[in-house]
This record gives sequence, structure tokens and C-alpha cells, in this order.
Amino acid sequence: MDTVQNVVATEPDKVTGYRSFHLGSFAFSRDAYFVTIKWPGKGETRSHQLPADAFLRALMRDVAWGFFYGWVNFDDVIGTRNHYGRVDLYAGAYNDSLKKAGVDYTEQFATPVITATFKAILADWVNEGFDPFAAPEETGSAFGFKHGDNMAAIERFRIATKRMPGLDGDSPLRDDLPVNRQFQDVAQDEPEILAEPGFEKELRGFNLFKYLSRSDVTWNPSVTSVCKASLFCPTTEEYILPIFHGNDRVEWFVQLSDTIVWEVADKNTGAPRARVTMNAGDVAAMPADIRHKGFSTKRSMLLVWENVTPDLPKRYDRGELKPYPVEF
Ligand code: PHB
Ligand code: FE
Repeated sequence: MDTVQNVVATEPDKVTGYRSFHLGSFAFSRDAYFVTIKWPGKGETRSHQLPADAFLRALMRDVAWGFFYGWVNFDDVIGTRNHYGRVDLYAGAYNDSLKKAGVDYTEQFATPVITATFKAILADWVNEGFDPFAAPEETGSAFGFKHGDNMAAIERFRIATKRMPGLDGDSPLRDDLPVNRQFQDVAQDEPEILAEPGFEKELRGFNLFKYLSRSDVTWNPSVTSVCKASLFCPTTEEYILPIFHGNDRVEWFVQLSDTIVWEVADKNTGAPRARVTMNAGDVAAMPADIRHKGFSTKRSMLLVWENVTPDLPKRYDRGELKPYPVEF
């Protein structure tokens, strides 16, 4: 067992080629098909398995999003809760059966420590040809014994804009990327911008549909416009959101094209609460007390609208704010 910069890892396994990792009392290992996670519970070692592709897709998002807003459930058992500076890693803590059986376990880590371990797992377990951000039809397989790596795919970072893409010194418009196979019908014209003299560097507009039609990743909201605490985070979606996101605030969805079906469940127990079908033009608020996962058969465009007003999670926790935004 070696410890390098807070990462505790074994030598590569002689058969599979993969390292195993330890983080606090958690142990992570993988084989050709599955990831196995172990933790202490009621005096014994408990374990849980996930398919390797699903685990790596979830882990990739957790790392790229800096643990996101609130809870990132990899599945019904494993996940993380962001305390913004520290992160809980849990097994069964938000699963009614495991919680009632008393075999759940949570351990808190400083964000840089858990990030370093998660990045090291991605670096070791993502094989050549597998891109955890890509739609299943657009990537090679995650399975098999260790063969190569894909550092270019896992070091790709979520684009975050200071004000709006295309403004001087801000994020690029990514015209260099090809139009995705499922967005061939999306118009590629740009708006005409006629600024008053002196305001040429202040005024900017771009074709958001064109921008999104060229996204090479799925289920990865990029912060594309910032106005005080209001973040517009559009994204392109195909297949399944690799995590069950547990909200620590209300967030809004605006379905820009095609269709996404959302499974909505209780944040704490996982009990099903709703199934929401959103077609192009539909708008929905996701409450602060739920978890949700989306399904998109054809690649679609979604605008996720986030509210980063400071202290929102605490205000919801204290019951000062209702979990939903509108009283009917
Ligand atoms: C969400 O959890 O709200 C979410 C995450 C990623 C997406 C879309 C929505 O691509
Ligand atoms: Fe969400």
C-alpha cells in the first residue's frame, strides 16, 4: 500500500491490472465489470457493487462539478454530500432499508483529499477509448482488464463563463467542434449585433442552439451566463443522467429541445415521488427536498437554472424556506 499526496492505493492487481484505493474507512476496487465499495457497519465489513461504466460516469461528474449543489448519489447506496469545503462520502445513509438496518456509514473529508482520491481512481480505472462524459453510442467500452488510459477525456473541465461566452477575455464559443450527429437540423446562423459606438466590447449575443449543437459531452451543465446569483447552465442530454442529484435548493429546468423524462424521489429515503415528462418548451421547478435522475432517448437540450444566493442550503435546512418555489 502506497500513500502519495493523500491518495492511498495498492499495487496494480496481477490479474486485472487495476489498483485498489482506500479513503478513510472506505475501500474501492474494480474488476472487469464491477466496482466494489466496502465500509464498516455494525461491526462487520459491508459491501456494494456498481457496474464499472455507471460508477465512472458518476465519479467523473462528481469530480468535474466540484461535488455540485447538495447530494450526488451514484446510485441508491453510494454518494457524496457537499458541505462546500468538506464533503461527506456515504454508503446507505440515504437508503431507507440500509439506514433502518443500521449498516449505513458516512465519513467526512476535506474537499482536496476526496478530490485527489477520486481523480486517482479515474486516472487508473478509465481505459483507453472510454469517455465517461460521452453518450454510450459515442464512446468505447469501460469494461475489461486494464488497458491504457484516457487522460484527455477525464481532464476535460466544465466550461465556466465569467459573464457570457464570446465576450472579450471570456470562454470561447467552441465553433471548432463539429455539430453532433443528432443536432444536424439545428440552424448555425449567429445573431447580428449592432452596438452603439463605444459599447462594442460590452454587448454580445450568440446562438445558444448552435453552441449546444456542438457540445461533445452529455449531462454536464456548463455555466454559460452569470447575472448576480443567477446561473444559466445549459447542457445536452443523451441516455441517462449518471447520478441521482439530491437538491439543497430549488432549481429550475427549461426544456429547450426534444424530451427528457425525470424520475423524482424523496431526498432522504429514495421513495419514488413523481415521474415528469418534459417536452420542448416545458418549464419545471425541482424542489429542495427531492432527488432526480433524467432519461433522454434522443439527444436533447436542457437549461438548468441555478440560484447561488449565499446560505440557501442552511435556510432550507432550518425550514425558513419552503422546499418548493410557488404555492398554488
Ligand atoms: C441536475 O442534477 O439538476 C442536472 C445535472 C446534470 C444535468 C442536468 C441536470 O446535465
Ligand atoms: Fe439537479
